[in-house]
Amino acid sequence: MDFSDIIRRRRSIRSYRRDIPPPEVLDRIVDIARRSPTAGFSQGTEFLVLDDPAAVATYWDLTTDDGYELPEGVDTPPCLVIVWSDPERYLARYSAEDKIAFGLDNAAAWPVKFWDVDGGMAAMALQFAAINEGLDTWIFGISRGEAEVRAAFGVPDRCHQVGVVGLGYRSDHERPIGSGTTRRRRPLEEQLHRNRWNSPDLSAN
Ligand SMILES: Cc1cc2nc3c(=O)[nH]c(=O)nc-3n(C[C@H](O)[C@H](O)[C@H](O)COP(=O)(O)O)c2cc1C
Repeated sequence: MDFSDIIRRRRSIRSYRRDIPPPEVLDRIVDIARRSPTAGFSQGTEFLVLDDPAAVATYWDLTTDDGYELPEGVDTPPCLVIVWSDPERYLARYSAEDKIAFGLDNAAAWPVKFWDVDGGMAAMALQFAAINEGLDTWIFGISRGEAEVRAAFGVPDRCHQVGVVGLGYRSDHERPIGSGTTRRRRPLEEQLHRNRWNSPDLSAN
């Protein structure tokens, strides 16, 4: 698939068939995602792949309220890849001789947490790689239950959840829903600032 086709095809797909992508496809996707840039080549991004229906069910049990009902039009993806960042790998890397002068050997000193930046980039690459393999994707975050998810799947306490990429094949009745359908895309000239910041559009919602 041409890269521009991949970009155009990517949107948040929230309704999936039940068939699970083959493990070798999931391995290839993660292998591409982990080639994203990381600060100092710290490589502190981890990928927890849930492709066992019982594991996926556990994830939803731990992250949704009792009695929660999915919105109409949502059939959750059969496979989830939870992307985690590991700050300790960055702190160890930036304690090395060639990096120590940056003063980033403790987490509080980082104005931008590059471990989360890198995790976000990996999550994006993961989506593009998945689409290139003929899959569809949906990225979302854990808003509750992160500690429980860590405990259930043996994730070290030091890791932060960056986001969850749902993967699978869109169902025949899939239709766009969600924020992307109810809000306008901002015009390019409003977001692109060339040589000088454009006047902010205070009417933007
Ligand atoms: C960090 C992040 C968190 C998101 N969390 C959710 C979420 O909790 N639920 C959801 O349905 N979509 C979630 N989305 C998807 C966005 O709503 C979606 O990307 C946006 O509306 C644009 O639509 P599109 O992805 O179809 O282009 C999230 C996206 C990002 C990048």
